[in-house]
Amino acid sequence: MTHSIIPLAGVIGCPISHSRSPKLHKFWLARYGLAGDYVPLHVTEADLPGVIRALPKMGFVGANVTIPHKVSVLSIADQVSDRATLIGAANTLAFGADGRIYADNTDGYGFLANLRQGAPDWDPSAGPAAVLGAGGAARAVISSLIEAGTKEIYLTNRTRPKAETLRHDFGSRITVVDWVQAGNMLEDATTVVNTTSLGMTGAAEFRVPLDGLRRGTVVTDLVYTPLRTKLLQEAEAAGCVTVDGLGMLIHQGVPGFERWFGRRPEVDDLVRQEMLS
Ligand code: ATR
Repeated sequence: MTHSIIPLAGVIGCPISHSRSPKLHKFWLARYGLAGDYVPLHVTEADLPGVIRALPKMGFVGANVTIPHKVSVLSIADQVSDRATLIGAANTLAFGADGRIYADNTDGYGFLANLRQGAPDWDPSAGPAAVLGAGGAARAVISSLIEAGTKEIYLTNRTRPKAETLRHDFGSRITVVDWVQAGNMLEDATTVVNTTSLGMTGAAEFRVPLDGLRRGTVVTDLVYTPLRTKLLQEAEAAGCVTVDGLGMLIHQGVPGFERWFGRRPEVDDLVRQEMLS
C-alpha cells in the first residue's frame, strides 16, 4: 500500500457541492498548521464500494459520508461501531493501517457535545425529552439521549409509522405521540429537540404550537439556517435555554478530525464564525 506524505480525508456524497465539511476541516487544518487536506468526493451509489476500497491506497486516512450513502456504507465497511449499527447509518470512516475500513456515527456525539456546551446545566435525566421527527437525525438524537440517561422520550412525527419503527428499535423509553398532539408533549418535557426540516430556509414553516414550553426547558433545533429559528426565538421568549444547531455540525466533525490528523480541534466562536461566513 502506498502512503501519501500528506494525510488526506474527504466527504463522500452525491451531490456533494453543498457540503460544509470541507470548509470545517480545512479551517481546522490551517488553524493548527497541520499537514493534510480534505476534499469533496462526488461518488455515485454504483461506484461507492470501489471508491471506498481505493481511497486508502491513494493516501486517504478516512472520510465522512453524507447523503445518500450513510446507510449503504455499513455493508461496505469491515467493522461497524455499535453506535452506527444502532442508528443504522454511518457518517465517519477510518482507514486502518491494516487496510480495514472502520465505520462510526458521530452525529449523536455531536448532538450531545453541542447541548452540553450550549447548556452547561442541562441534565438529561431531569425529565422527559420531546423529540420532533423520526428520520435519520432523530435516530442519532434518540440513541444519544438514551446513552446520556434520559429515561422517557416523547416522539412525534408527521408520518406516525416511522415513529413506531423507532419505538420498536429503541424500546419502551419511547412514547409515540400523534403529530397533531405535538404541542401537548412539550408541557412536561425538560428537553425539546427538533430533528425535522421544518423552519429551515426553503422548507415548510414550523407550525407546532409552542405555548406548552416551560421556563428552564432546554430547547435545541437541528436546523441552523437560519441560526435563530422560530422554535428557538419562541422558546427564548418563554424563558427556555436555547441551543442552536450549528454546533452539532461542528462537533460531529471532531472525532474524525482527531483520528485522521492527530489533534482534537476546538469548537469555539472562531470556528462558528468561519462556518457562518
Ligand atoms: P434527516 O436525516 O435529517 O432526519 P429525513 O430522514 O429526511 O432527514 O427526515 C426528515 C424529517 O422531517 C422527518 O421526520 C419528516 O417527517 P416525515 O417522516 O413525515 O416525512 C420531517 N418533515 C419534513 N417535512 C415536513 C413537513 N412539511 N411537516 C412535518 N414534518 C416534516
